[in-house]
Amino acid sequence: MTAPRKPGESPGTPPLGGVLKGLFRRFVPPTLELHDIQALILRPRPAPYYGTHAFVEIMDAAGGREAMRRLRTRVTSAADWREARSAWTAVALSYRGLEALGAPASALASFPRAFREGMAARADKLRDHGPNDPSRWQAPFGTGRVHLMVSVYADSEEAWRDELAGYEEQFATLTGLRVLLRQDFGAQPESRNAFGFKDGFTQPVVEGSGVEGWPGDGRPIKAGEFILGYKAEGGHALGAPTPEVLGRNGTYLVFRKYHSHVDAFNRYLHQGADTPEGREFLAAKLVGRWRSGAPLELAPEHDDVGLGADDSRNNDFRYRDDPKGLRTPVGSHIRRMNPRDTELKVLSDVNIRRIIRRSTTYGEPLGDSLRDDGKPRGLDFIAISARAIDTVEFLQSEWINSGNFIGRGTEKDPLLGVQDENAFFTVPGTPPRRISGIETFNTLDGGEYFFMPSLTALDWLAGL
Ligand code: HEM
Repeated sequence: MTAPRKPGESPGTPPLGGVLKGLFRRFVPPTLELHDIQALILRPRPAPYYGTHAFVEIMDAAGGREAMRRLRTRVTSAADWREARSAWTAVALSYRGLEALGAPASALASFPRAFREGMAARADKLRDHGPNDPSRWQAPFGTGRVHLMVSVYADSEEAWRDELAGYEEQFATLTGLRVLLRQDFGAQPESRNAFGFKDGFTQPVVEGSGVEGWPGDGRPIKAGEFILGYKAEGGHALGAPTPEVLGRNGTYLVFRKYHSHVDAFNRYLHQGADTPEGREFLAAKLVGRWRSGAPLELAPEHDDVGLGADDSRNNDFRYRDDPKGLRTPVGSHIRRMNPRDTELKVLSDVNIRRIIRRSTTYGEPLGDSLRDDGKPRGLDFIAISARAIDTVEFLQSEWINSGNFIGRGTEKDPLLGVQDENAFFTVPGTPPRRISGIETFNTLDGGEYFFMPSLTALDWLAGL
């Protein structure tokens, strides 16, 4: 089991590293309107975790508004979560969902174009082609019928089941809603994802949230980058939907359901190395961390399980002293997704490209098998920020499906890139190793763009 990530994240004794760091930690009183902000935005995912995402269609506006009223009683705010129950709910709406609730035309028109169009219509911007093309998505994604995403997160199986039982009781009599897809999730043993990696380490520190980062998490980033209504990095608040009651303290959530092809990943490791140690080394090079979470930058030769488990150290690194990627390949997943202080060939402000990740793993482990067992497994990728849609479209086109920004030409992100027949991954060294035969290890089963309203906005929507 992973150690608790942040203060108050889950019950239990903090790791020694955390306690020592706690002695030096400066208390930062929150300045955001936490009571109005949904907990999921600022509440770290517990370890272990259990839960459900439900994708819901609103059949009639009255039923939808009644659902908002009842959901409002279940959504936990970011102010309550430290003392709150061990299960909590988050709610988000698609553009079609806002329409189905009967939101006024002026409010609908105030949302950005990409949100109004929806993820499937943005396939070109996202480079969702080939195996990721919306025509191949699992229903109901991309059909325009996903109006509402309701997510329950819990830190124990019992709390999760209790919470769902509460829902069944409260929603059994409600008409006008249809659950189109229910996706249960829960980390694999030791909170690993489908590929056997611990995940969820690096999160941006949101200024004013009262949640302080661990060493290496970087300076606090202006709250307006993550929550609407506050100053962003540019000194002004980003444009928000109107009226203010709808936009303020809300944010955007990008959901992408990935099917992980662990068998293909394992075959690639076999192609690149003859020994189990060599295969672990290559797996770490692809990601930038060992499966324990220990970063290659701090543990370049061997895994260091203690380092992986120590939150006061496992994110405390930069890339400045590794410009050629001899420790962490410049093309590895974590270095692409958050280049930190890497000198980029195509300039970009990395601080406005940060996302809060609340992704969840589903399915059983496949282990080191080279053959697929036909069972679905993968990752429900969840990115939250006030510019989440822009950021994910940027990451997809510039940092995932291209290598230009790091001088790597057509090479793509090894975990997420849509790879062609001649694709390869480069492990820098003298000489560098170019390992061909890399496949698309994660294909997209579908996704949606959502708006995550504040608690006040939920009331407003219920009263439309
Ligand atoms: C099936 C899909 C994915 C898998 C298996 C995966 C796996 C991982 C793993 C193992 C890590 C390192 C541990 C951690 O901090 O979580 C990581 C980090 C990260 N991933 Fe992913 N990821 C996936 C999708 C994505 C997507 C779609 C994005 C963005 C569009 C993304 C962005 C990031 C970021 C920003 C980090 C942190 C980088 C840092 O440490 O500085 N990931 N991912």
